[in-house]
Amino acid sequence: MLNNISEAIKEVENFSPKTKEDIEVFRLRFLAKSGTLNSFFNEFKNIPNQEKKEVGQMLNKLKNLVKEKTTNPLLSNKTEKKVGLEDLSKPVANNCIGSRHPLSIIEQEIVEIFSSIGFSISEGPEIEDDWHNFTALNVPKNHPARDMQDTFFIQTNPDILLRTHTSSVQARYMQKNDPPIRTISPGRVYRNEAVSSRSHCLFHQIEGLYIDKDVSFADLKQTLLYFAKKLFGKKSKIRLRPSYFPFTEPSAEVDVYWGLETESDYRITKGTGWLEVLGCGMVDPAVLENCEIDSKTYTGFAFGMGIERIAMLKYKVDDLRLFYENDIRFLNQFSNSI
Ligand code: DAH
Repeated sequence: MLNNISEAIKEVENFSPKTKEDIEVFRLRFLAKSGTLNSFFNEFKNIPNQEKKEVGQMLNKLKNLVKEKTTNPLLSNKTEKKVGLEDLSKPVANNCIGSRHPLSIIEQEIVEIFSSIGFSISEGPEIEDDWHNFTALNVPKNHPARDMQDTFFIQTNPDILLRTHTSSVQARYMQKNDPPIRTISPGRVYRNEAVSSRSHCLFHQIEGLYIDKDVSFADLKQTLLYFAKKLFGKKSKIRLRPSYFPFTEPSAEVDVYWGLETESDYRITKGTGWLEVLGCGMVDPAVLENCEIDSKTYTGFAFGMGIERIAMLKYKVDDLRLFYENDIRFLNQFSNSI
């Protein structure tokens, strides 16, 4: 009997079905009531006790092999390929293709909104000179407005610094290009600030610049309203509050209406329903002149916004540091936002 079982085991091991029918024929031969397995088990009852252990083990091996080949042939890769069947209930393969960082997603969204209305994209260096970051923008050395932005200077050369805002790209772009100018400049900026849930020593901004003949404050307001509706939804409202920036005159800060529906709306808007999202204004004629653009012929507007701030609002993230820690549990939550 042992010999017969070994033969059967060999046969089952070598069994390689080509079609569903092959499997069915095979299954019936071994597992049907009058099939090979049952006849072995019947024979088993009659063998002497001392042989039962060995034969029993072989029989179990045969039984398991037959089950494996018949009940789930598709789990074995070899069989699957030959049978050519597809098990549609199988879980999909876990392909980790990665995803974009939430800051990149927001940056891209903002860039696309402005590209669609004719703004080009421009970039400048993160290691910048004093002139482009400050002096050209109406902030000469020792001007108190320099204190608005705590700056990292290079120790050996006080003329070189890490740019504190993307407004430096404005100056570079105006030097190189003649009006009409319509450009946005995304990039990383640095400030010597303590790291907390609300501020960081590095963050990201997008700068916008529009220079042409007869550009007015109304154009600025309308462009920003269009932008807010695209980014935050059709029903968005904006308001402009008078402010001060050295490179624009007049200057304003723009708030977007956030609403006052939940307790957290009250908290983040300090009970007003409005949230500040960017700074803007009409480019100061002195800045145009510094960058060799005739301020008698041309006017323009500029604006600048923090990407982290907008990402925090859109994704309801309450700690800025999460964006830089690269914790996969945080980043995974954005994998569907592409
Ligand atoms: N550069 C300013 C900042 O970092 C933001 C800003 C305000 C940019 C007004 C502008 C502007 O272009 O017109 O705080």
